[in-house]
Formats: sequence, structure tokens, C-alpha cells
Amino acid sequence: MNRLIIALSMLLTATAVSAAGGGHVLYTFEPDAKNTSSVQRGAKYFMNYCSGCHSMEYLRFNRLAQDHAIPDDLLSKLMFTTDKPGEHILSAMPQEKAAEWFGQAPPDLTLTARLRGADWVYSFLKSFYLDDSKATGTNNLQLPGASMPHVLGGLQGYQVLGEEEHHDDAGGHHGPVEPPFELVVDGELSAKEYDGVVADLVNFMSYAAEPGKAKMHDRGFWALLYVIFILIPLTYAIKREFWKDVH
Ligand code: HEC
Repeated sequence: MNRLIIALSMLLTATAVSAAGGGHVLYTFEPDAKNTSSVQRGAKYFMNYCSGCHSMEYLRFNRLAQDHAIPDDLLSKLMFTTDKPGEHILSAMPQEKAAEWFGQAPPDLTLTARLRGADWVYSFLKSFYLDDSKATGTNNLQLPGASMPHVLGGLQGYQVLGEEEHHDDAGGHHGPVEPPFELVVDGELSAKEYDGVVADLVNFMSYAAEPGKAKMHDRGFWALLYVIFILIPLTYAIKREFWKDVH
């Protein structure tokens, strides 16, 4: 019994820690991996802007197509790293070369949304800022010293880091602080449209990290119905059967 309690409390702690995501994030974001059109757009952005450097080794194109009902003609437009639907989403870039060029090989992104958290990835993609001291010309407030260039700079534009403002309320608590970014070069998109692109990308990455999750939730729902309508009445019937002779 004691062991059971210890195991249970360890499990609870682990869940709490993973829910906290292990660190400060600049923005919060609630992913929706079931939003089919958003995940489809995210997949398109990923193939266009990210797959040159990053792979998604554990996700297959045809799995993506099945789960999100992507028609064949659209699928073939996404598949420019391969021509086989059963293939994993690999990057065109040779890993050793990438490490040489960037000082750090671009990591596989299949599980990143789960390992880092959706908030983290969302914040990362919104937090590139101009920094002369970096070879890429930019730095990142969510991942200081990041060797990834701001590949979405054409869409977002370029921002600089201003003075940090602290909003202390009367009680001395720190209110949520907006990161002190200031846009100095306009991009093709408005700030709101850019947030939409980042949201699509993170929804796609959240789906990739747990492609079975949407289905698992449905299964949980059926399991609950089963307990309510079958298991409980059955248990009750058995109990009555047992106690019938006792009274
Ligand atoms: C030109 C190559 C290149 C492109 C294109 C690129 N990245 Fe990266 N990315 C990198 C490199 C290099 C790193 C490692 C950065 C570091 O750790 O300093 C990285 C790191 C990341 C990380 C952090 C992963 C982690 O857990 O540390 C995320 C998330 C990410 N990239 C997302 C994206 C997304 C989304 C796109 C497309 C919009 C993209 N990247 C396009 C090179 C690239």
C-alpha cells in the first residue's frame, strides 16, 4: 500500500513538472492539434520554411494525409523531400554539414512540441531580434544565443529588443510582462497574421508530437460511457445477486 502511494505521488509530481514545461516562456499558447485546416496550413509552412534544415523523422506523409484528410494532389505538393507517401519527413540537409554551417545541427522536430512545450515553440518563433554580434544577424530571447537564423523574417519583419518594462501592481506581484520587442523592419504580414502562421506551425508540430492523441481522447470518452452505462449497472447487479441470499 505504501509503495502504491509513493508511486502515485511520484507520478503526480512528474505530471506537474511536465505540465509546467520546465522554464519561463515569453508567450502562452494553447495548441489545437485537431484543427484540421490549421494543421494542414502548418504542414505547408513547415515544408516550405523548415524542412530545408529540420527533419520530422517519426512522422510519415501518409499518416499525416490520413489523419487530416489531405487529398492526394495536395499531398504531392507537400512532398518535395521524397516521392513516396510512406516515407518519413526527412530534411534535405546533410547533418554533418549543417553542424559545420550553424555550429549546431538543426534538431529533429518530431517531438519538440512535447519536449519543450507548445508555448515554448510559439514563443521561440516570435522572439527573434536583431543582434549585430551574431553571425546570423539575429538572436532569440526564448533561446539566447540560438544559431538558427530568423527564417520567417520576411513574414514577420525584424524587431529589436527595447528596454524591459516591469508592471508591478500594488500588491508587489509581477504582472505578465510583454516582451519588450519593437518592430523596426516591416514584414509581409501584420503582427496578427504572423501570430496565425506561428499558431499553425505549432499546431502542426503538436500534432506531429502525438499523432494518436486526438484518437486517444475519443477512446477515453467511450471508455467513460462504458463505465457509466455498462460497468456500474453490472457491478450493482452482481452485488445484488451476492447479497440476495444473505438477507
Ligand atoms: C537554415 C536552417 C534552419 C531553418 C530553415 C530552420 N531552422 Fe530551426 N533551427 C536551426 C538550428 C541550427 C537550430 C539549433 C539552434 C540552437 O540550438 O542554437 C534550430 C532550432 C530550432 C528549434 C529549437 C529546438 C530545440 O528544442 O532546441 C525549433 C523549435 C526550431 N528550430 C523550429 C524551426 C521551425 C518551425 C522552422 C521553420 C519555420 C525552422 N526551425 C527553420 C536551423 C534552422
